[in-house]
Amino acid sequence: MCGITGIVTLDSDNIGELLVKCSRKLTYRGYDSVGVAAVREGKVDLRKDVGTVDEVDRLLGLSKMRGDRGIAQLRWATYGAPTKVNAQPHFGCDEVFYGAHNGNIHNYVEYKQELIDAGHKVRSENDGELCVHAVDKYYEQTGDMLEAVRLSTQDLKGAFAYTVGRADQAEIYAVKMGSSLVAGVADGATIVSSDLPSVLPLTSNVIYLADGEMLVLTHDKVRVYRVEDGKKLERPPQRSTVDVHAAEKGGYPHFMLKEINEQPQIAKDVMGVLAGADNEEWLKMIEDSSRLYLVACGSSHNAGILGTYYFNRLAGMPVYHAIGGQFEPMYGNTLDDESLCILVSQSGETKDILNVLNHVRDANLGKTLGVVNVIGSTLMFQADSYIPMACGYEVSVPATKTYFSQTVIFSYLAAKLGERNGHLDRSEAKTFIRSLKDDLPKLAQATIDRTGILTKNLARTLVNVKDLYCLGYGFTDGVAREGALKIKEICYNHCEGMYSSEFKHGPLSIVTRDYPVIFVTTTEDSWMVTNHINEVRARGGRTIIVGEREDRLEPYVDAEGDYLSVPVSNVLLNPLLDVIPLQMLSYFFSVDLGVNPDLPRNLSKTLTVD
Ligand code: BG6
Repeated sequence: MCGITGIVTLDSDNIGELLVKCSRKLTYRGYDSVGVAAVREGKVDLRKDVGTVDEVDRLLGLSKMRGDRGIAQLRWATYGAPTKVNAQPHFGCDEVFYGAHNGNIHNYVEYKQELIDAGHKVRSENDGELCVHAVDKYYEQTGDMLEAVRLSTQDLKGAFAYTVGRADQAEIYAVKMGSSLVAGVADGATIVSSDLPSVLPLTSNVIYLADGEMLVLTHDKVRVYRVEDGKKLERPPQRSTVDVHAAEKGGYPHFMLKEINEQPQIAKDVMGVLAGADNEEWLKMIEDSSRLYLVACGSSHNAGILGTYYFNRLAGMPVYHAIGGQFEPMYGNTLDDESLCILVSQSGETKDILNVLNHVRDANLGKTLGVVNVIGSTLMFQADSYIPMACGYEVSVPATKTYFSQTVIFSYLAAKLGERNGHLDRSEAKTFIRSLKDDLPKLAQATIDRTGILTKNLARTLVNVKDLYCLGYGFTDGVAREGALKIKEICYNHCEGMYSSEFKHGPLSIVTRDYPVIFVTTTEDSWMVTNHINEVRARGGRTIIVGEREDRLEPYVDAEGDYLSVPVSNVLLNPLLDVIPLQMLSYFFSVDLGVNPDLPRNLSKTLTVD
């Protein structure tokens, strides 16, 4: 997944500075390589190399580039290794056309050969270059840039968005075909970008786009056209209320720590959304469904696993959960007219999830309910309805506050559904929902305050650990997997998350003296988890416990610091709180290893590729 930014401005001296300032906000979308193409007096200055925006800026002086229009691209490598020649933007056959893309061109191999056979000079192994050549090809035939962009989409297969220009034309063009794209109109400049955070430093006057739409940017306006027939569409800018400063660190050393600390407030904000009037639509969609699927990737999937336990326990409702890529082969033939797919994606752009959205829509079977954070995302627009996660922008690549918001949403929905279908006693439902609203923010804050120093100290004892397990049982199944994922993502260690009762069926063989195993539990399951702890300790393993402090568990830690206790609460809140020590542990562990937890190698915040 990559980030593209295109700007046209009246001021011909600051295009490099503007492009660097705006495109830096997309760093979470990719930081394998960066490039800027700036145009001044009909000549394209193209500078690009491997590294982050700041590294390449220092190397090539990106922010000093001059011109009145230009394109920047931050790359997360898919087609073609992260090298200088594969970095974007790219030229067309000569140094007249310049452009950059985000997404996947599925027919890359055959189309590249077709262009080469037609005499095109293709320089790189990167699929984005073919977008520029496709426009070059059709401009040769039509002499019209907008028509060339429109026709290029006939050749390019896959999900992508690109922006392109000609050295001798003042406009910049862009097209949205399955990957995210948004535009903005400022005073004396216009911008097109993969994501809102890079538009906001320039303007809050935003133009949201749908797939199959293309743009023409001049310094004072953004015109929108339909790819299908070239028809001009009326799309006035609308004021975005997203806080541009939300994408700042606010005094924290890393976005990840800031976003962990935002969780108490997230609990308040998302409960405010859930208690609103819209919830009737969402609850009814779920109640009326013949079968409920919950589909997500990464941390969102782990939140979904916790959701299935809440739906079972509080609403007596079975949920078929799957990771995005599993859905079609696992459940694709089980949809019917009344089934409901709950699609969980903080970015709303994860291709594995959009594939499911398209599958359900193309099969015309049942409905889709998005659980999504990024306003203006494809999932937000294209699902039949959506529940906003109310987290503001999550900048750090490893998800924290968005996972937390999702788990609060699932626990709330399950309680409301259980109250309505009689599975849950009305007073119990009300008590639990009130504890979500009134207690959870305070308990989350108390957990952060309590486990901050504990996890910082514990991380120090793990600094040489390269291999460990994180086990959960019942409600903490998804929580343990999330803790393991955090350690994998930002500590580059092998940490496997799995069900604790399953550990003895094979993985137990890994345990030798002092081998670390983290057990995540609730007061309701600790009696069972004790058995699994003993199976590890009997073989000399080191057990680390996450959960409320319980007498029965005290004997099972060798050191005080191996017990990460969360505040006493309603047992159904334990799973929501247990993730916090795991987030903090992975954060301090990562920092101790000298990793930047916000930008872990090889990863990207949103993967808009298969
Ligand atoms: C991965 C991110 O690329 O995508 C994870 O690194 C995230 O943090 C996963 O959980 C799913 O993303 P989304 O936006 O679909 O929730």
